[in-house]
Formats: sequence, structure tokens, C-alpha cells
Amino acid sequence: MNDQPTTKWIGQPLDRVDGPAKVTGAATYSADYRGDQQAAIGFIVEATIGSGKVSQIETAEAEAADGVHLVMTHQNAPEQAPFGDNADAGRFGMSHAVLQNDEVRYYGAPVAFIVADTLEQARHAAGLIKVTYQADDSVFDAFEHEDDAFAPDSLDGAEEADVDKGDFDAVFAESAETLDATFHTAAQHAAAMEPHATVAEWDGDKLTVHIAVQILSSARKAFANTLKIDPANVRIVTPFVGGGFGSKLGVHSEGVLAALAARKLQRPVRIAQTRRHVFSNGPHRTNHRQRIRLGASADGKLLSVAHETLGAMSRDYPFAEAAASPTMASYAAEAMKIRHRVVAANIPHVDSMRAPGEAIGTLTYESAIDELAVQCGIDPLEFRLQNEPEQEPASGKEFSTRTLARCLREGAELFGWEKGPVKPGALREGPLLIGRGLAAAIRPNMMQPADAAAELDRDGRLTVELDMTDIGTGTYTILTQIAAETLGLDPNAIAVRLGDTDYPKTCGSGGSFGAGSTGTAVSKACALIRDTIIERAARLDSDWAGVNSGDLRIENGNAVVAGRSLALGAILDAIGGDSFKGKGQVEPGKAHEDLAQYSYGGVFAEVSVNADTGEIRVRRLSGAFDAGRILNEKTARSQLMGGMIFGLGAALMEESLMDMRFGSFMNRDLAEYHIAVNRDVPRLEVKMLDTFDQNSNPLGSKGIGELGICGTGPAIANAVYAATGYRTRKFPIHLEDLL
Ligand code: MOS
Repeated sequence: MNDQPTTKWIGQPLDRVDGPAKVTGAATYSADYRGDQQAAIGFIVEATIGSGKVSQIETAEAEAADGVHLVMTHQNAPEQAPFGDNADAGRFGMSHAVLQNDEVRYYGAPVAFIVADTLEQARHAAGLIKVTYQADDSVFDAFEHEDDAFAPDSLDGAEEADVDKGDFDAVFAESAETLDATFHTAAQHAAAMEPHATVAEWDGDKLTVHIAVQILSSARKAFANTLKIDPANVRIVTPFVGGGFGSKLGVHSEGVLAALAARKLQRPVRIAQTRRHVFSNGPHRTNHRQRIRLGASADGKLLSVAHETLGAMSRDYPFAEAAASPTMASYAAEAMKIRHRVVAANIPHVDSMRAPGEAIGTLTYESAIDELAVQCGIDPLEFRLQNEPEQEPASGKEFSTRTLARCLREGAELFGWEKGPVKPGALREGPLLIGRGLAAAIRPNMMQPADAAAELDRDGRLTVELDMTDIGTGTYTILTQIAAETLGLDPNAIAVRLGDTDYPKTCGSGGSFGAGSTGTAVSKACALIRDTIIERAARLDSDWAGVNSGDLRIENGNAVVAGRSLALGAILDAIGGDSFKGKGQVEPGKAHEDLAQYSYGGVFAEVSVNADTGEIRVRRLSGAFDAGRILNEKTARSQLMGGMIFGLGAALMEESLMDMRFGSFMNRDLAEYHIAVNRDVPRLEVKMLDTFDQNSNPLGSKGIGELGICGTGPAIANAVYAATGYRTRKFPIHLEDLL
């Protein structure tokens, strides 16, 4: 870690530069796009079995219905590359073929696509389709098919499904204090405000897709691979995305259906998935069983750790999350045994969702650690501090920075933990039992390749272009600040353009790597312009020789530094150009391979539990977080607060329930899929350490988007224990569990 550089714009709580466009409705989300030609509207007809074949499908009545232009089924869908083809392109870029044959892979998979003049017509016609199925034997419940479990090839958050360090069984057997707890965590859906939506438009053999995605370059690959066309003929456009949470990392059936139908009809096709569709034609996080065994010495030194997880993988869709990833990085232990196992199931796609791995891993591990601390008779804060590792526990790698203990201490101060834990039931206000708990937050810090282009005109107006997305996180704003900082330019003179594959390629938004990766590319592009200006100015005026590039400002069309000023136009005239151009590129370096890099937090919760009704209310949440250098005090705080609210939801509310007879999710809307709403959210206190990690990237920032989730859920569960003496073994905690 090193000292923070002094800055003018980076770190400032600048209001969102896209805020006015969003609140006035001027911001166009994917389904808002209107081209020259009026789009026809699509509607998905979903399979009503979990696995099997379509034996008959009657479409005549639907085809004859008012306004209907197309009824596409497997019988007339254009040929595509088989689903999963081009696996090298990864799960987001491989073929996402739809309606390719009579097979049904999961409940809710499209069996027909209706395109009509209006949504009402399409929806009405959907009701006229009659499908007869032949159902197969299916696997819906992973836990019932444990014997078929295997180690996943594609695991998000850990390099290996298995880790063995020392002899767990032997050390565990000799540990003075032990815990053996099996937890269940719920299936969840991203439930983003904006549903998955697409407008597809063809011009000859060129396809333009306005689609709600987080990563444009992989969406382009997915369309090219599915439709077997040249990626150069695919343009993806998405200037605004209304929340992703992982569910928009890849493309989904609605996008491919729209592209196929638009080509058939020679007309743009628009489809916004209904909320109900999103729960089957969008991805979800699967439920997990997690067994955790911990052993400690009598004085609370953690010795042995085993974390074994089992979840479902959607058949043919290679993804599993590493729920034990925080376990591998949090506390020192001489023996460690990690197992990740999955069962292939006939269920909708399982994919990354909000802190894949860590969200559900800290939920269980931080609950178990807390329980063991209490068993050892040690303040759970002290227990965590005394088990701080020197190196990453599972790998032995050095940490880039390690501030978990500092986050816990500062969180404790913010919250007022100094008195330590109290016995369950000891704090009471009338019928309310009061409890306080804490947990650590930890989340890997990643970096991904990104390119950016910048152009400064003679009037001193800067345009920055890259195919990055702003999924509500504040990308437009932080990239504006980074450009302003690098060129000493007022943010009002800067236009950041995102969300178009015509711009330089980036990693997009995901894994909390977007800001650091694309921010570095933008700063490099702008630095190139800055250095060009200084170098050229020095050729015109020797006073400019050797000036410090960090002192340059662009003001009123002039390059200005310490008493010297030159018109940008004069410099450009001497070069013979109209503008200064810079390109920036970044790749993850050796520091990301060699060092264990994480963001950290310490989260504290106070809850009340009604002793008569079991109603749990979160009263207070305080978190101290270290995500390296903070790029915008306001948007960063919002990211952490949003994350904490998701953590609250994971502890107490969010749960997708599958009907195991059919493999169908039952609560497919926001009335039945509960997310935390304003009334559920207490005062949130966020402290940001605002450090600087040069190993992360030149900006010194680290991933922040998913950090707040990790730690908040278990802090609440631990507070519920402190209130009631009840240790949960499943999430979310229901009030009836407490009665
Ligand atoms: Mo995140 S779940 O990688 O969008």
C-alpha cells in the first residue's frame, strides 16, 4: 500500500453525470430504442415440462390471430449452431441457440415465439398455441441425486474445486473445540429493475442488437456464434442498463429469438421479457448445501477448516459458484479441506449473481466462525482478529494488501461494539429481543483487459469512447472524473460514450472489475493526450520543456501550466491536425497472478426480534470497507449501501422456490419473490478506508460493487443469535424458524 496521491476530481462525490437524463426519461434503455422502421413485438411461449420433448405443437390458430406476423417454433426456426457450440468463447459467448429441436431442456424454455404488431396481440396468440409433451425422467433436486455429483470444470471464484492443505481429518479430530454444521442457502434471482430486453434490427447481413447486457464483446460473440455470422456484422448497443447483478453478463433467449425473427420478417423485433419470463429465461443462483467443519484450540486458535458445498448446475450450461472461496482467504488454519460439487439438473440456467461464491459463502462461513467463537468463550471480534493470516490461507500467496482486521476494528468503532457480545436474551425492550452481531466481508479483486479512446478538440472538449456499460453503478461519472483528473479538465467539457461495440473493446461490467479496469484504460488514453500536448508545446515554446505533466490543465481551449498558456489550436496548427487523440489499453499484470488480492469489510448489525411473533427487524447496519482508492465518494457509498441491502435480503428475504415435481420456480414475480424494500432497510452507516493499492491498478482502486453483500447477511444472522440464542442453519431466516 502506498500513500494517496492528491487529486482534484478523483474521489469527489460528483453527482451522476447521467442523472438528469435518467430522471427526465431521456436515457434510452434497450427496449426504449426506436429506429426508423416500427418494430414488431415478440412474446415467448414457455415449456410447461422440465425435461422431455415437444411431441406436437399446434400453431394454426395463433398464426391466424389478429396482428400476428410470425409464430416461430422448432419446426420453422432458422438453423443455428447447436447450443453450447464454440465453448471456447466461454459461457457468455458460446452458441445460445433456441428452438433448435423438439427437446425441452428446462421448465420455461421457449417452445414458440410469437411476433405481432402489439404486445396484446402477441400475448393473446400465445394463449392459442397448443403443445403436447412427452416428459422424460428429470433431475430437479440436486440433493436427491448426490451420488451423481461431480467437481465442476467451470467454477466462478476458485481455481480448483478441491483444496487440501495438511491433514484435515487428523487435525480436526485433535481440535479441542469443534463445530460441524450443515447450512442451506436459497436459490435467488437477480430481479433487476429493467427486465432482459432486446430490439434486433437487420440491415442486409448486418445485425444491430439493442440488448440489456453487462458485457458487449461477449454478447457480440454469442450472436455471431449462434447465428453463424461474422462478428464484424454484429453491433451491440446498450447505453443504459437498468441493473444487472450478473443476470446480464450473457445473452438470453429473448435476444436470440428477436434476432431470428427480425431476419425472417425483415423488420425490427422488440421484446421485453415479462417479470415472469425473467424467472425462467433469465439466470438464477442455485440453492446450496454447505457443510462446514471447524476445529480450534481451547484458547480459540483456528486449526482445521472444512467447507464442502453441493449445488445444481443447469444441464449443458457450465457454471458453478465457489461458495468456499471466502473460506480459503479469511482465517489462518493449518489444515484445510475444500470441496465444490455439482449435480447436473434440468433447471433454468444457473449463473453468476451478486458476489458469486462470496455472497453465500460468507453467509455460512461467517456464521460458523461466530458460533465457534462463542463456543470458545471469546468475543467474536477478538476471535477473528486473533486468527488473522500472514498469507492467503489456502494458497500461501502473499496478500497485495491485508486490511481485514483494520476494517473489523473500524467497523466496531463506528457501530460501538466495544462492550462486546451479550448473552442471548439479555437485551430486551418490552417484547423485543435485541441482538448485535458482526461478520467479515471479503471479495476477490480482479482486473480485466480493456481499451479506451479519447479525443480532445481545439476548443478543449474531450470525448471518451469505450464499449463499457453503466449498469446503474456510476460508470459514466467515474470515467468522467478520471478523464478530468488526467487532463486537468472541467467535467462539463467531457462526454463519455459507452455501450456500443463500435467503440474500443472492454471487459464490461462484472466481477466488480469494471471501474478499475476501464478507468485505467481511460486514464492511459488521456495521459497520452496530455503528454502529446506537453511535448508539442515544448517544440513551440522552450518554456514548456520539462514541465510536470501532472500540472497541466486544459482551460478555455488553452493548455495551461504554471504561468504558461498556449492555445490548443496553435499546437494543433503546428502539428497539422484537428484534434488530439489517445488510446489506452490495460491487461491484468503479474501482480494479479502472483498476489492474493481482495477487498475487505467489517459489518455490524443490530436486530430486534419480537419474542411473541418472531418478526425480525434490522435496526442498524454499520460497515467499514476497504476497496482501495475511492473513485467517487457518493457512487462508491451507494454501491456499498446497495450491497448491504442485498445482504439483508439474503439473510431474511430473497428465495426462489422450485416446485420439485416440475422443476419450475413458483414465486416468479416481485410480489412473491421478496426483496428488501425501503421499510426493511434501517439506517446504514458506511465508512470507506480509502486506501491505495498500486498492485491492483495504477488508479489504486479495488472492486467495490459486490463487497457490501459479503458480510452483511451473516452479521444479521449472528445478531439474530445474540437476540434469541437461535443459530440458523438455513437462509433466508424465516420468522417461523424462531418460534
Ligand atoms: Mo457480477 S455477479 O460478476 O455481475
